[in-house]
Amino acid sequence: MVKFEQVTKKFGQITALENVSSEIKKGEFVFITGPSGSGKTTLLRLLLREISPNKGKILIEGKDISTLRSSEIPFYRRKIGVVFQDFKLLADRTVYENVELVMEVSGEGQSAKRKINDALKQVGLAERANLFPRQLAGGEQQRTVLARALVAQPKLILADEPTGNLDPATARQIVSLIDQAAKNGTTVLMATHNADIVNSLKRRVIQLKQGKVVSDKASGKYQE
Ligand SMILES: Nc1ncnc2c1ncn2[C@@H]1O[C@H](COP(=O)(O)OP(=O)(O)OP(=O)(O)O)[C@@H](O)[C@H]1O
Ligand SMILES: [Mg+2]
Repeated sequence: MVKFEQVTKKFGQITALENVSSEIKKGEFVFITGPSGSGKTTLLRLLLREISPNKGKILIEGKDISTLRSSEIPFYRRKIGVVFQDFKLLADRTVYENVELVMEVSGEGQSAKRKINDALKQVGLAERANLFPRQLAGGEQQRTVLARALVAQPKLILADEPTGNLDPATARQIVSLIDQAAKNGTTVLMATHNADIVNSLKRRVIQLKQGKVVSDKASGKYQE
């Protein structure tokens, strides 16, 4: 589903990723761990085609994403559910409308309403659908972002510290929803520093250090 072939990404003098090769299968749930600055977010941003590698190739379902034309990128991104901390909700739209925005661009028509309500129910926000982001707790905002990521039934979910600023119970709840999506066939890459979550889920763990893969274990533990 996702393949990195000797990917190097530099920002000026800084090498954020160096010669990273990895393959992730459909429906796999993979944690990306590593210290601050090790290249986790860079790896996810490469997959979103927000940035491009200096060297190497990234293949999604066998297709080299560097060959996508700029006109094809919005369509490509629609297949990806994104849970990034800086992916803010629109302040002047309700919870329902924030989730709906993704559906509008997908052009789902009539079935959209049911899917949105299902996604909100899944994340436990059915009763909050008509509130605005400022009326929500942090964890509820984060769950709205998750509903927005799940609603279009993406092939791939990219999550960057999705549990940051959440209490342990809410964090576990968010991760179990993402895990459920993986069990339904969605491929998940989650960058995190949350050792409790990594250790409790017993999924594959790819550990980065200074832009390199230093370990890749099928049922890994979180390591500093
Ligand atoms: N736009 C940019 N311009 C310059 N340097 C950048 C840019 N983005 C990332 N970097 C550098 O690339 C390296 C990897 O950054 P990245 O954000 O991928 O780390 P990270 O593993 O996500 O860290 P954290 O755990 O703190 O989120 C860092 O040294 C960072 O300073
Ligand atoms: Mg990061």
